[in-house]
Amino acid sequence: MNFWKKFQPKTGKPIMILAPMDGVTDMVFRQIVTSVGKPDVFFTEFVPIDAILSKSSQKIIDKGLRFSQRERPIVAQIWGSNPEHFKKAAKVVADLGFDGIDINMGCPVKTTLRQGGCSALIKNPKLAQKIILATIKGACGLPVSVKTRIGFGSIDTEGWVTTLLQTPIAALTLHLRTVAEMSKPPAHWEEIAKVVEVRNRLNPDCLIIGNGDVKSIEESRVKAQKYGIDGVMIGRGIFQNVWLFNESVNPETITPKDKIKLLLKHLTLFKKTFGDKRHFALMKKFVKCYINNFPNALEIREKMMQTKTLNELIEITKRYTAIFKVVS
Ligand SMILES: Cc1cc2nc3c(=O)[nH]c(=O)nc-3n(C[C@H](O)[C@H](O)[C@H](O)COP(=O)(O)O)c2cc1C
Repeated sequence: MNFWKKFQPKTGKPIMILAPMDGVTDMVFRQIVTSVGKPDVFFTEFVPIDAILSKSSQKIIDKGLRFSQRERPIVAQIWGSNPEHFKKAAKVVADLGFDGIDINMGCPVKTTLRQGGCSALIKNPKLAQKIILATIKGACGLPVSVKTRIGFGSIDTEGWVTTLLQTPIAALTLHLRTVAEMSKPPAHWEEIAKVVEVRNRLNPDCLIIGNGDVKSIEESRVKAQKYGIDGVMIGRGIFQNVWLFNESVNPETITPKDKIKLLLKHLTLFKKTFGDKRHFALMKKFVKCYINNFPNALEIREKMMQTKTLNELIEITKRYTAIFKVVS
């Protein structure tokens, strides 16, 4: 049942994971990434447990907890603050067929903090442990993992990960910044060595995954070797190179035609999957991931950003696809 175990014993290449990103790593984007270079593991965007348990749960399941077989192994990331609700929500997630469940203990956004969830749990270690144990109970044998940061107001790596690693979690991802730092200063990669040391003492089976500012598989390999970690999670790096998880593709050789074709594929799948159920503004944000780093990219992007509807954007992208077919 523990899919993480298939990555042991260590092979030299770290486990490569696409980071959960709200409004970005939805089912459609995960499929687009799969089509050009699949990471070893996908995570969903974070989903509130109270919505999973509410009367309108189908809505949140449609929005955040749908996936296709091609995206496996896939971990559902959930957040909240009530252990009993975590237990119930874990059961729902397990029934949906996910490969694992991850608890978000790192999001710094105020609306989540006000509810005592996500990174607020760093200040409430007893509750954090209760939540993990309750989730494991409800997870029907699925591996439960945690994604978090290295402290709240200041760095407290050892203290905080000791709390987490006293529980039988299967994997622990560290975004190597404090909550107060948001995403600003460079990630404190040197802190991950302390996490490995605590893991070796308290929960040797738990996989340690580092996260923060990594842009390529090569960089991940260097970091994994240097710090003795099991995996690396990459988030914003995918915005600069959607092909990132495919090491055989040199980003310099990706042509404007390739990029525009992939944008069209993304738009078409977005329309087919979500219809008008997901905001067009969310889709528009992706334009920059594809229309970049080639002559006229800025001009084309500006035209695309002026569109008012999904169909309009699809039409203009089709026109450019035809033009680039001829010129490249
Ligand atoms: C737009 C956006 C949305 C995010 N949403 C989530 C989320 O839903 N769950 C989560 O654990 N982290 C979330 N994160 C944080 C990332 O998973 C990751 O920890 C962070 O971006 C640092 O990694 P990076 O430097 O590789 O981007 C989000 C980040 C971004 C930029």
